[in-house]
Amino acid sequence: MIKGCIFDLDGVVVDTARYHFLAWNRLARQLGFEFTEDHNERLKGVSRMASLEILLEVGGLFPDDSEKPALAAQKNQWYLQYIEKMTPDEILPGVAQFISLLKSSGKKIALGTASKNASIILQQTGLLTVFDSIVDGNRVTNAKPDPEVFLLAAADLNLNPMECVVFEDAIAGIEAAHRGGMKCIGVGHPSTLLQADKVIPGFINADIHLIDF
Ligand code: BG6
Ligand code: MG
Repeated sequence: MIKGCIFDLDGVVVDTARYHFLAWNRLARQLGFEFTEDHNERLKGVSRMASLEILLEVGGLFPDDSEKPALAAQKNQWYLQYIEKMTPDEILPGVAQFISLLKSSGKKIALGTASKNASIILQQTGLLTVFDSIVDGNRVTNAKPDPEVFLLAAADLNLNPMECVVFEDAIAGIEAAHRGGMKCIGVGHPSTLLQADKVIPGFINADIHLIDF
């Protein structure tokens, strides 16, 4: 039986993908090339430095490794300007209600995200006290598709991986959940999230039986 639910943050609980896109796009334009929304799809669930590598590859640029931290820091500075203005209205529809439903059914709730900015986003959206465990990019060394982030969340909840289900919008996140021995519910399009055990378009009217396996 599922006793714990682990939520990815970006694209599952809040729609921050557009802010990541605006900041990466601005960096690309500064470097002299165009970075499209299609390109941005490749960055979902991917860590900040790995995202920079993809962006540079798209632009056909190969700067020295020593220049990369400053580029990532510039992008993050612009991204922070967006997320520091976030409000509870930017919680994705139905997710807060679904988490309340899970909690009233006695389920434990964790956050499992690659983001190092999770605490600002949670604070701005009023979600800081909702989770029994928060595992973000500051607590792990191995990025998704490595299962470290979800295994740490399960351990925080005092549950076995097989007692947990992960909610993810990224292919790398689904692989991470499965490598950790957990079921995974994809949030998005079935055509993209082929490997998920189930796929939902979003959380509006999501039912508690969703986590029956
Ligand atoms: C993931 C996002 O949740 O976090 C990625 O899907 C992002 O797009 C990654 O690159 C790292 O986020 P941050 O906020 O630490 O740069
Ligand atoms: Mg995500």
